Amino acid sequence: MESLISLVNRLQRACTALGDNGEDSALPTLWDALPSIAVVGGQSSGKSSVLESIVGKDFLPRGSGIVTRRPLVLQLHRIDEGREYAEFGHLPRKRFTDFAAVRKEISDETDRETGRSKQISSVPIYLSIYSPNVVNLTLIDLPGLTKVAVEGQPESIVYDIENMVRTYIEKPNCIILAISPANQDLATSDAIKISREVDPKGERTFGVLTKIDLMDKGTDAVDILEGKAYKLQFPWIGVVNRSQADINKNVDMIAARRREREYFAQTPEYKHLAHRMGSEHLGKVMSKHLESVIKSRIPGLQSLINKTLIELESELSRLGKPVATDAGGKLYMIMEIVRIFDGIFKEHLDGVRSGGDKI
Ligand code: GDP
Ligand code: NA
Ligand code: MG
Repeated sequence: MESLISLVNRLQRACTALGDNGEDSALPTLWDALPSIAVVGGQSSGKSSVLESIVGKDFLPRGSGIVTRRPLVLQLHRIDEGREYAEFGHLPRKRFTDFAAVRKEISDETDRETGRSKQISSVPIYLSIYSPNVVNLTLIDLPGLTKVAVEGQPESIVYDIENMVRTYIEKPNCIILAISPANQDLATSDAIKISREVDPKGERTFGVLTKIDLMDKGTDAVDILEGKAYKLQFPWIGVVNRSQADINKNVDMIAARRREREYFAQTPEYKHLAHRMGSEHLGKVMSKHLESVIKSRIPGLQSLINKTLIELESELSRLGKPVATDAGGKLYMIMEIVRIFDGIFKEHLDGVRSGGDKI
């Protein structure tokens, strides 16, 4: 049976396909109900590096300043064998096997929407990666939180970014991957500040500590990683990403992951924590958690899907001869898709009820 995560991936895309018609339809509500993971943190805290490490590929635009200016919905699909490839939601059926071209398309597509200015837009870019080396996972990369506007940006950008991030992470179904750099005081972490606002008990926040290798000599992150400095419901995960020098020297991801493993295993302070540190571990933890959250939400999703179907049907009948108009045709297609999901969810639900593990 199709994994629950990829099922929800498809449903998310079906909801988005409605696009501009979505405002007054029931679909945005359905989209909000689908669990997802959003990556938040200050600029240069290491968000892109963490995402790339989880995927095990270089594919994100990088540079100083504000690089991520639109949300990127990154859907990872594990395939059994074959060559890895990527596909964009706005370029269906075009397979990218060159990940440098993926990076270029992300920044081109960002510019298409924002008009090459340093503006931001809340319209997401959808990117799917199919690979034998990934876990099934959906991650949303968001623009980095910042304190000042630069390079001719409007003053409002600081608040605009914060509001966009908040729109995503305030949803109770959003799992927050809060990225804080270890070489800065945790008390000043943008990620902790905003996630505490929307999730005060830390029930859906995973703390990720980057740049552990860059801490001042004589200091370490043990108190944070053991949950003593700032308590969250889930254990903190420390990572060591590639430095800028590594990136300039083209240190590949495999070598970087190996070095990261060695770092935790061989540093005396972190030895006892090594089994639950690093990017690979982080990817596995997030995939497992997302799957279990989705599983627990199936009954609720099921009834929401039924409600959505009823509302879509009435929207359709309101439009009159549906297939004759663009909006009607689109709605009709979406309804068919939601119907198919209704069936698949029912199967999963039956599996849960009978105590069988069909997933
Ligand atoms: P973002 O702005 O939050 O997406 O941050 P990036 O992932 O682009 O990282 C910003 C800079 O910090 C880059 O030059 C990275 O190479 C560097 N960096 C990120 N994480 C680490 C880390 O764990 N250790 C070291 N040494 N450098 C890191
Ligand atoms: Na950056
Ligand atoms: Mg980035």
